[in-house]
Amino acid sequence: MCGIVGYVGPKKVAPLLLEGLKRLEYRGYDSAGLAIMNGKGVETRKVAGKISRLESLISAKPISGTLGIGHTRWATHGAPNEANAHPHVDEKHEFAVVHNGIIENAGSLRRKLEDLGHVFTSETDTEVLVHLIEAAFDGSLEDAVIEALHQVEGAYGIAVVSSRDPHKIVAARKGSPLLVGLGDGEHYVASDASAILAHTREVVYLHDGDLAVLDRSGYRIIGLDSLTQTRKVSKIDWDLAQMERGGFAHFMLKEIFEQPQTVASTLAGRLLLNTATAKLAGTNLSDEDLLAIDNIVITACGTSWHSGLIGEHMIEESARIPVEVEYASEFRYRNPIVNDRTLCIVISQSGETADTLAAMREAQRRGARTLGIVNVVGSTIARDAAAGIYLHAGPEIGVASTKAFTSQVVALALLTLKMARLRDLSVIRGREIIDALQALPGHIQQILDRAPEIEALAEEFKRAQNFLYLGRGYNFPTALEGALKLKEISYIHAEGYPAAEMKHGPIALIDELMPVVFIAPHDSVFDKVASNVQEVKARKGRVIAITSREEPSLAGKIDYEFRIPETIDMLTPVLAAIPLQLLAYYIAVKRGSNVDQPRNLAKSVTVE
Ligand code: G6P
Repeated sequence: MCGIVGYVGPKKVAPLLLEGLKRLEYRGYDSAGLAIMNGKGVETRKVAGKISRLESLISAKPISGTLGIGHTRWATHGAPNEANAHPHVDEKHEFAVVHNGIIENAGSLRRKLEDLGHVFTSETDTEVLVHLIEAAFDGSLEDAVIEALHQVEGAYGIAVVSSRDPHKIVAARKGSPLLVGLGDGEHYVASDASAILAHTREVVYLHDGDLAVLDRSGYRIIGLDSLTQTRKVSKIDWDLAQMERGGFAHFMLKEIFEQPQTVASTLAGRLLLNTATAKLAGTNLSDEDLLAIDNIVITACGTSWHSGLIGEHMIEESARIPVEVEYASEFRYRNPIVNDRTLCIVISQSGETADTLAAMREAQRRGARTLGIVNVVGSTIARDAAAGIYLHAGPEIGVASTKAFTSQVVALALLTLKMARLRDLSVIRGREIIDALQALPGHIQQILDRAPEIEALAEEFKRAQNFLYLGRGYNFPTALEGALKLKEISYIHAEGYPAAEMKHGPIALIDELMPVVFIAPHDSVFDKVASNVQEVKARKGRVIAITSREEPSLAGKIDYEFRIPETIDMLTPVLAAIPLQLLAYYIAVKRGSNVDQPRNLAKSVTVE
């Protein structure tokens, strides 16, 4: 999940690469480097740490040139130090490679290359690539790259430069995203459009097995068989300003506050009031296709998995189709029962998570129809799923997912509405769902307007060492998500549990120091949750409750209450998630964490 950017053209390349890397830093940020053609050879600068350190190094030790490649890393093989930072070069500094992904047979290739006299200077899998390319070089960089790639197993997005074929960049992809940016007399390569959006909006997404050769005057795409490939030019309509923080202290806070608009965008144009159903243009699934589905498997990771659990509940309750939710990393190595009457819903904000992508491919291999619920347009899952629902939530930069989560739940509600109306959900009930969906943006805004109340709560609890989040029904997954948000960015240990299941273990942890967050809106399981609140209070736990109306049964049992507007049961997670996101955010800020780039995490996990 590293970030790659490259440029060839008339401009000074170092500042362009640094700017691109800063925009990619959310993909990985433990070390970084550049390789630039300086007129004589390949010159590199590398640091352990963030891009700002690379920037300082380059201002102290400038390099000039108009062709180069850069990388920001999230370590997989070897510690995040300078030697392991990319680009990697050969002994004579004639070739340089940046790489995103994992070369699975790096160990055996390395031994072979060492036997031939190659000297390695890092612990990375990537370094074998540069030695393979150097060994294969016979006048043409692309031919050498092709020969090298025939020898490697695994996943890669790479960019390569060489002083022996000095006017081009060669890029290739298999399993890791890469695109070519088109300019006038200049070309870019990047793992993500955000890196180059300030300079061009015209991009060509590479497919797996593609190799791009770029120079000032043009670009060519060929396969690993050297045959020319034709790929279409796409226009990006995400705005650069959308990518910036827009006045908020952090991307995460900006993204939390965007939710009235992002939820509205997910809904836009998709509600059919007369027939009380949803229109999902990208699904390519006819009503007959949807009716032919016998069972559904939802597969995802992290926050997306939590929205999947909510989707399971919605679909089973309203559309009456059996649903299983699986961690993608587990699904891919099981022997799942999936066939051509199975719909596999693949949920991924980034559309690039390696395990989710592999799970999708496994489901496809077994004949299932796949439907991606994805935010990043043009991402691999979005392109390769048979059908899709885009979230239209705009770029999510904060590593902890917020607006993507609420949009995923809304997209799942739309899909539920569509499938349920095809089966036996009444028009009246369909209209209730539509009314509740349409009210969400206003309700979210009401919650956000009261953010200072959550900030005060965060002040009270910022020194806690543990947190328990409890909910039932639709809000058991909300409890999981609340706990995940807190641990991701504040590093406080937090667990989410079904409220009643708490009696089978976590109750032993409860004492007067333990904050317990109950997600207790007035829904069909409220009375049950209220009993669980009593059980915690009886053991002197500190109860924080997210409620939706005055509840006499909770009088005297709650230490801190935050009330959210009422909605239908299936949409309560959308509203309940907002105060939990804010609580995690404010606690993390008060503890001094880097909320947008929490330690050890990455936005897009493109390795297994
Ligand atoms: C990483 C991110 C999480 C995200 C998960 C799945 O762990 O830090 O925020 O939920 O990946 O990502 P996806 O892009 O597939 O939704």
